[in-house]
Amino acid sequence: MKQLTLAAIGCGNRSQIYIDLAARRPERYRVIAGADPDPARLDIARRLSGNPHFQSFTSADEMLTQPQLADVMIIGTQDNYHYGPCLQAMEKGYDILLEKPIAQTLSEVIDLERQATRLGRRVLVCHVLRYTPFYTKVKEIVDSGLLGEIMTLNATEGVGDWHQAHSYVRGKWAVTDQATPMIVAKSCHDMDIIAWLLNRPCLNLSSWGELNYFTAANAPPGAPARCTDGCPHADTCPYDALLYLTKHRRWLDYIYNDAAAASTDEIRAWLAAGPWSRCVYHCDNTAVDHQVVSMRFDGGATATFTMTAFGWGRDIEIFGTQARLWGGESCLKHSGADIIVETHATGDRIRFNLSHDSSGHGGGDSGLINALYTELTKGSSTLLRSSVSVSVASHVMAFAAETARQSGQTVNLTDFYNGHSAG
Ligand SMILES: NC(=O)c1ccc[n+]([C@@H]2O[C@H](COP(=O)([O-])OP(=O)(O)OC[C@H]3O[C@@H](n4cnc5c(N)ncnc54)[C@H](O)[C@@H]3O)[C@@H](O)[C@H]2O)c1
Repeated sequence: MKQLTLAAIGCGNRSQIYIDLAARRPERYRVIAGADPDPARLDIARRLSGNPHFQSFTSADEMLTQPQLADVMIIGTQDNYHYGPCLQAMEKGYDILLEKPIAQTLSEVIDLERQATRLGRRVLVCHVLRYTPFYTKVKEIVDSGLLGEIMTLNATEGVGDWHQAHSYVRGKWAVTDQATPMIVAKSCHDMDIIAWLLNRPCLNLSSWGELNYFTAANAPPGAPARCTDGCPHADTCPYDALLYLTKHRRWLDYIYNDAAAASTDEIRAWLAAGPWSRCVYHCDNTAVDHQVVSMRFDGGATATFTMTAFGWGRDIEIFGTQARLWGGESCLKHSGADIIVETHATGDRIRFNLSHDSSGHGGGDSGLINALYTELTKGSSTLLRSSVSVSVASHVMAFAAETARQSGQTVNLTDFYNGHSAG
C-alpha cells in the first residue's frame, strides 16, 4: 500500500483537523510540510503531523518555489485565497484537497475546474457532508428507488445563533466582500447535497434573504461597542463575549492557538483587543442572517432551501411518488430516528438509526480523510465523490442564489454559467 504524502497551505483550523486525522492513519498518510505566516500555527501543524522532519514555510509562495514536496496539497487558506495557491500547486504537480468554497468568484471556480482537467490533476473539494453516515444513507435510499420518483425536496440549515455571531457577525465570514456570500461560504454544502441527491441539472432558481437582526437597530440601549467595555446587558445578552470563557469556550479553539493552555486573564485581554468581543449589533457585518432559495431542476423536480441563524442543525424532507423521507436534527429530536421513510400506499414507516461519529460535521471530517486515500488512488479522477468537476454545479447554484437574492430576479443557470465562463 503506497503511503500518500500530504502538505498544507494554510495551517489554520481546517488544515489542523485534516492533518490530525491523517496522522492517525500512518499506514495511509504522511504529512510532510506546511505553510503559514503564523509560527504558532505551524508549530501546531508540526506537532499534529507527528513527523520530526516536517518542513515549515512562512507562506504559500515560499513553499511553492520548492520542488514538489508531496503527492497532495491541502488548500486550507481563507475563501479569498484559494484560487492562486491551488492553481500554482496544480501546476507544480500536486493533486489537491481543496477547502470549500472552491474560489471566491464563480469565474475562478470555473477556471480551476478547467485547469485541473488541462493539467490532469485530481482535486477533491471538502464537501464533508457527502462523507457523513447521514447523507450517505439518504443518498443510498434515494438511489435505491424506495421513494419512487423524486418530485420535491425541502432542506433547512439552522446555523445557530452563537455560530452565526461567531463566524458571520464578528468573524471571518462576516464581511462578504472579504470572503464569500453566506449562501456560498456556508450553504454551498447544502447546494451540493441537494444537487447530489437530485442528480440532475438545476435549471432556474430564485432567492430572498436579508441581514435583519444583527444590526445597530437591534442594539439594546446603552450597549457599548465591545462587550468588554462594561455592557449593562452582559448578564442577559446571549452574545456576551465573556461567554467565550464559559458556556461557549469550545469556540475559542477555532480562533485562539492553544486555548486550553491560556489563562482567563490572557483570554480576556485577547478578546478585548480583537474582533470577537465586538457587540453583535455594532459590527461591520454584511452576511445575511436568513435566506431562502427555490429551485427548479431538469424534468420539473423542485427544491427549497432555508438557511437561518435562528435554528440548529440540518433537516431534510424528500417527497417521492412512492414514499416520503424525513431526516435530520428535528427528526432525531422528535422521533428518535435519524431518518424515517413513510410509504404512501401502506403508511408503513422504516426507521434508520445511524452511527454518530463525534468528529466534526457529523463524521464528515473523518469520512473525508478516510475517503481521500481511496479517492485519490482511484483509476479515474472523474469518479471522485466530490471532485471539482461535480462541485462546480453546486457552486453555480450558490453564486446564482446570491445574484437572485440581490437582484430579486429568477436566474437561468445555463445563462449564468455562460456569463461567468470566459473560455
Ligand atoms: N469544509 C468545511 O466544512 C469548512 C468548515 C469551515 C471552514 N471551511 C473553509 O476552510 C477554509 C479555511 O478556514 P479556517 O477556519 O481553517 O481558516 P483559518 O483562518 O483558521 O486558517 C487559514 C490559515 O491560512 C493562513 N494563511 C494566510 N495567508 C497565507 C499564506 N499566504 N500562505 C499560507 N497560509 C496563509 C492563515 O494564517 C491561517 O492560519 C476557508 O475557506 C473556510 O471557508 C470549510
